[in-house]
Amino acid sequence: MSETIVGTKQAAQMLGVSISTIYRMVDNGILQPSKTPGGQRRFPVDQLDEYKKKSRSIVAPQNPYQMRINVVSGEIEEDIDDGPSFAASVIEEGLEEDTEYPAVDDKPVDPRNTLNDLNGSQWLPETKSFFFQKGLGAKHPHAQIERQHPAPFSFQDVSHLVTFFTKKGMKVLDPFGGVGSTAKACELEGRICISIELQKRWHELAIKRLESEVREGASQKHIFILGDARKELKKFDDCSFDFMVTSPPYWSILNKKADYKVKRERLANNLATNYSDNDENDLANIESYDEFLRVLVDDVFLECGRVLRPKKYMCIVVSDFRNKSEFISFHSDLIQALNHRATADGYKITLQGVKVLLQNHKTLLPYGYPFAYVENIHHQYVLVFRKDKK
Ligand SMILES: C[S@@+](CC[C@H](N)C(=O)[O-])C[C@H]1O[C@@H](n2cnc3c(N)ncnc32)[C@H](O)[C@@H]1O
Repeated sequence: MSETIVGTKQAAQMLGVSISTIYRMVDNGILQPSKTPGGQRRFPVDQLDEYKKKSRSIVAPQNPYQMRINVVSGEIEEDIDDGPSFAASVIEEGLEEDTEYPAVDDKPVDPRNTLNDLNGSQWLPETKSFFFQKGLGAKHPHAQIERQHPAPFSFQDVSHLVTFFTKKGMKVLDPFGGVGSTAKACELEGRICISIELQKRWHELAIKRLESEVREGASQKHIFILGDARKELKKFDDCSFDFMVTSPPYWSILNKKADYKVKRERLANNLATNYSDNDENDLANIESYDEFLRVLVDDVFLECGRVLRPKKYMCIVVSDFRNKSEFISFHSDLIQALNHRATADGYKITLQGVKVLLQNHKTLLPYGYPFAYVENIHHQYVLVFRKDKK
């Protein structure tokens, strides 16, 4: 079925804005046009209609002054940080399914390409150091399982990574599988996922998700392991996976006292606010940040490195966060702790790049205003590492 598309000028007319506003909306990822071979933008009319509908229902935050600032020291006394729930935040904003993943064209794949199934024009845009987060709308029937989990990532964003870093049929590992976003991306992209998750609740939902959101029997093509990643990874042989993609716990930030946003969006809807309560194997329950980082790197990511094939990649999706008044640059700490480290099978892990996953749809809250700079953290990082010879 062909969709109706219009040029930039008509798109501006449809939305009642100027052409330069349309360009800005494209730059900010609000609109995602395709391009003609001559480089002209083409906007699906459905996407413009959808935007019009959504913009009618946008409301300003009702209670923006949740953060208390000590007016003498300028320090934050109560934080309402978003936490790691980045797919859910797309859901909150009601963004609908995207239409902009690389257009399939019929140019051949270079026979020397052993990494993926992309041709040159599909490969190039994927090397940008940023991309815009995509997700399903909150009411989408396929967002209901994902919503149960306090910090899922979007299977559409993971699909980007899976299609760039693997070929069809290859094996993808996710040691913190949650509700199976990586498994869903793998199923949709024809890859095989091996997903490890500590909590029975998320493990079972991941299987159910594939069965109900993709098709009956879909979960059987993948392996879902219920267990502690630190123990389960040890059972795999060296060099047995083609790619690792995951998002770990962001230390214990989900265990913070519920703030305004958590109360409004999760507690009020009877949704979980953490992975587990007192499970000592849950990495989110490690009290010290330094110890958490050590366990994450030494016991999980270096083991992932060992089970990865040489020259293959690991993508780790994380964000920075605040702990009381301290800003913790988790992504940078993780890079420092993992880069150039040796794996037990005699290779090393090296950083290849850092992609910024922009969450430009999130509501801006006036944290700190008018006393101090307190960031609205509206992006995640995708840390791209490779297993290289020493
Ligand atoms: C950020 S979430 C991952 C969410 C996942 N990407 C998704 O989309 O559903 C981190 C997950 O790690 C799990 N986890 C924590 N400690 C673990 C451990 N020792 N072994 C395996 N999984 C663990 C948590 O239960 C949680 O589901």
